[in-house]
Amino acid sequence: MSQLTETAVKASHAVLREKYYCLIGGELTGAESGQTFPTINPATGEKLADVPDCDERDVNRAVEAAQKAYPAWRRLTPLERAGYCRRFAARLRERAETYALLDALDGGNIIRSLRQDVEHAARMHEYFAGLATELKGETIPANAQTFNFTLPEPFGVVGRIVPFNHPILFAASRLAAPLVAGNTVVLKSAEQTPLSALEMGHDLKELFPPGVVNVLSGDGPKAGAPLVRHPDVRRVAFTGSVEVGRQILRDSADGLKTVSLELGGKNPMIIFPDVDLEKAVASAFQGMNYSWQGQSCGSTSRLFLQDSIHDEFLERLAERAQAVRIGMPTDDAAEMGCLVSERQFDKVMAYIELGKKEGARLVTGGGRPPNPEFQRGNFVEPTIFDQVDYRMRLAQEEIFGPVQSVIRWRKTEELAAMANSVPYGLTASIWTRDFATAYRLAQEIEAGFIWINDSSRHFQGVPFGGYKQSGLGREECLSELLSYTQIKSINVNLA
Ligand code: NAI
Ligand code: MG
Repeated sequence: MSQLTETAVKASHAVLREKYYCLIGGELTGAESGQTFPTINPATGEKLADVPDCDERDVNRAVEAAQKAYPAWRRLTPLERAGYCRRFAARLRERAETYALLDALDGGNIIRSLRQDVEHAARMHEYFAGLATELKGETIPANAQTFNFTLPEPFGVVGRIVPFNHPILFAASRLAAPLVAGNTVVLKSAEQTPLSALEMGHDLKELFPPGVVNVLSGDGPKAGAPLVRHPDVRRVAFTGSVEVGRQILRDSADGLKTVSLELGGKNPMIIFPDVDLEKAVASAFQGMNYSWQGQSCGSTSRLFLQDSIHDEFLERLAERAQAVRIGMPTDDAAEMGCLVSERQFDKVMAYIELGKKEGARLVTGGGRPPNPEFQRGNFVEPTIFDQVDYRMRLAQEEIFGPVQSVIRWRKTEELAAMANSVPYGLTASIWTRDFATAYRLAQEIEAGFIWINDSSRHFQGVPFGGYKQSGLGREECLSELLSYTQIKSINVNLA
């Protein structure tokens, strides 16, 4: 690493605290066992801090605190609860730079993308605060002698488990719907990126009544699983891998809990020959989420190029990929950072080797960039494979790294079957000026969220979630809010 880079990275360490604590019942506290685990800067391999290594005892304390806070929180009016979320949104904005910097240090994502994540989290709190008055029931004229009506009521304690790829976004934004609906929450951060959630604990402590939100750090088996299984946790919300999603469903079975899951994707982007190539190439780059090193569930990692434009499109895309400014995650100028852990790095490199073995052609990238400053971190260049058959493992499995597979296509009739050949069904992107063609294809593709002539963007109020093994439930919309309520029917005999 150059002296200049080294100095800049060190300077950003000023954002770190001496000591990190969980938030349980309004108190900043360590794990009951006294144990901690280190969290690492994946760009340098350096240790950043030690954080509490929570286990079942801490989960029990947190659930008890959430349970205790529940009756009073639930009795507030929806608009009063919304007020708390609005104040929290304002705090997120005030402290955006701190949150973005912590995530950049802890997880390897670039600061520019992370600033947007903090802003999105703030907006999500404002959005759900605005929906507070939509928590309402129905009257049902079942017969003249009774008055029948419904009330949406909260569940009680919600267990929320988040992954490493968008730490502050997932930790902060997904609190809004359960809280506005009147639930209290126990949040478990991802073991690779605990710092921003623990930092958030300080703001939550100031802004919410004790126990309404509790924040834990710890790994999946020791802290996540007991949270899912705890009998007083009535509603579980998870974002992460398919494998853990399945385990969470199994662990929720005994308690028959309501569960929402936002899982992986192997999403298609389909390009027809009539498009504006410049725009479509830019979108193919953007949709792959290289600015998150491809570590995003919505990434369009399977690129279907029509035969007649295939060569020119690929050439332009490869040029764009080669021009990307890889940099230290804390560097304002960086367009791409590094993968979250050595484990993810090894996994991505193994897929690159597999792609070559399966007979795909490596067009660009394929490993760590050569610059000296990137040798200690989990940096991987944007990697594009051509001549990919849609049945190869390279094109079937979620890599969760900067690896894009190009599949050549000839007949429109073959597209839906190829697009639907994976177990996932999260997003898809279709590029053509012919709306009828795009719309017909969109109807056939098994995915929960489809862009036509666009990619990667989310919109408040537009449901996001998966078909097939990409998940259960929809988020970022009114139905997310309502999914944190259960319906009570009240029947009054008027006779
Ligand atoms: P993961 O699914 O193992 O971890 C996500 C969260 O679940 C973490 O907070 C973890 O501590 C927790 N967890 C793990 N086991 C648990 C259990 N038995 N009970 C309760 N909670 C548990 O994801 P990981 O290992 O970080 O990444 C592995 C792969 O998963 C990635 O390579 C990627 O393919 C996929 N993934 C997909 C994400 C998405 O947004 N779709 C996000 C993160 C990972
Ligand atoms: Mg880390």
